[in-house]
Amino acid sequence: MLSEAEQRELDEILKQYPDKQSAVLAALYIVQRRQNYLTDDDMRDVAQALEMNITEVQALVGFYTLFRKEPTGKYMIQVCTDLPCALRGAEEFYHRLCERLGLPPEGGTTEDGLFTVEQVVCLAACDKAPVAQINLEYYENLTGEGMDAVIAGLRQESSEEVTGG
Ligand code: FES
Repeated sequence: MLSEAEQRELDEILKQYPDKQSAVLAALYIVQRRQNYLTDDDMRDVAQALEMNITEVQALVGFYTLFRKEPTGKYMIQVCTDLPCALRGAEEFYHRLCERLGLPPEGGTTEDGLFTVEQVVCLAACDKAPVAQINLEYYENLTGEGMDAVIAGLRQESSEEVTGG
């Protein structure tokens, strides 16, 4: 079941759509914020709220890479290593990032639970590679050192959230 706050947020969004089902992606984003990924119960909640079939909701979650079905780090770092980006050094960039975070070449989640790294296909920013999408934000024309600074900034942001600083 959606919490009161989630339902209020969804009600606001529903005002912009001619029919409930058009708001399914927005509804999934709202529910994903609970714990950074979507459980079967979460998908059922969305299906119920929008009077949809659970199978349709599950299919959408499976299709869009921004929806997660397993626990991930607080910051989900998706690096495009598709061919056009690979030609601009994205693979080396990706492997360096994994190394810096102590992750194996296939990516994964850091021990502190802060970062999950994965390779994705085209993020539609091919001319600005290496490019990464971190949660919903794009970081373009990245360098190894530039990414170190991004990681340091996110660590700082996260510790300030924890300490309230
Ligand atoms: S191929 Fe990487 S953003 Fe398009």
